Amino acid sequence: MNKLITIERHFLEQQKSHPEATGELTDLLNDVAFAAKLVRREVVRAGLADILGMAGTTNVQGEEVKKLDLFANEKIINAIGQHGRFALMGSEENEGTIIPPKNQTGRYVLLFDPLDGSSNIDVNVSVGTIFSIYRLTGDDPSQADVNDCLQKGSEQVAAGYVIYGSSVMMVYTTGNGVHGFTYDPTIGEFLLSHENITIPEQGKYYSINEGSWQQLHSSTIDYINYLKEEDKATGRPYSTRYIGSLVADFHRNLLTGGIFIYPATRKHPDGKLRLMYEANPLAFICEQAGGRATNGKTRIMDIDPTELHQRTPLYIGSTQDVLKAESFEH
Ligand code: AHG
Ligand code: MN
Ligand code: MN
Ligand code: MN
Repeated sequence: MNKLITIERHFLEQQKSHPEATGELTDLLNDVAFAAKLVRREVVRAGLADILGMAGTTNVQGEEVKKLDLFANEKIINAIGQHGRFALMGSEENEGTIIPPKNQTGRYVLLFDPLDGSSNIDVNVSVGTIFSIYRLTGDDPSQADVNDCLQKGSEQVAAGYVIYGSSVMMVYTTGNGVHGFTYDPTIGEFLLSHENITIPEQGKYYSINEGSWQQLHSSTIDYINYLKEEDKATGRPYSTRYIGSLVADFHRNLLTGGIFIYPATRKHPDGKLRLMYEANPLAFICEQAGGRATNGKTRIMDIDPTELHQRTPLYIGSTQDVLKAESFEH
């Protein structure tokens, strides 16, 4: 029987375990949960509201933007920015940094992917929102600049994601384990449903876009072929599971075990996924759950960022699986 702990209550409990905490992080996590509820409201009725399909614009990534990308982006910026807890934001959908509406008083920075997996929106496949939170590097919020958004993933104070799937869940960490909350629409609350999520040491699923086979480097092909061989002692062959929404693929592997790979390919020499608002937040969660996240060689959270939208190859999931994949990359 669930203990009916709301995510707001859980944030508060987590804060109590940090005597020096001022409550600011708790407040801004509440703002993130509130924004998630606003985005959820539209995502779950997307077919009814006029927010399916293309927005008719292209973003800094060179992607055709979906209406829901922009809707989620605008909701998050306004719902979170209105309380002045963030000095600066960075979003997949905005080329430069975003100064929150009204004022720049908070001591935190928010990086986010407002709608992850947007190619899946119009066909009712799970999509997500990913967020990553840092402290300002300096003391004066009004002096915050892009360098505050370019901190190593190891500097994150909180990270999480929302998955809009068969049920809507919010999963977060502040460095004290990973906790999952399921949205109960009858009361409008995220309720604790998955306390202290840990990822199995080894899984049986691998997630990669095999349509890119011709683009893959031989080391990656060798690893995937290894996973397909019959060998009961090492749990092979693995099964392939690839949804095309990073959050959904990651969430399944987090709960059941497995590895997600978006490697360097001939078409995407640095990989496709973005370091600051996809790889780093999920790497923080994955490590807190006992897993591993690298670019095939280097720990994701040790990468020194240089650009807001820089891409990185991503190997993330069960530790034994990521280590095995890395052994093919050397
Ligand atoms: P976004 O929708 O935020 O741009 O992210 C899409 C990403 C990620 O969600 C997914 O894993 C990946 O794109 C799928 O890429 P391919 O279609 O190249 O496999
Ligand atoms: Mn996109
Ligand atoms: Mn994304
Ligand atoms: Mn996105």
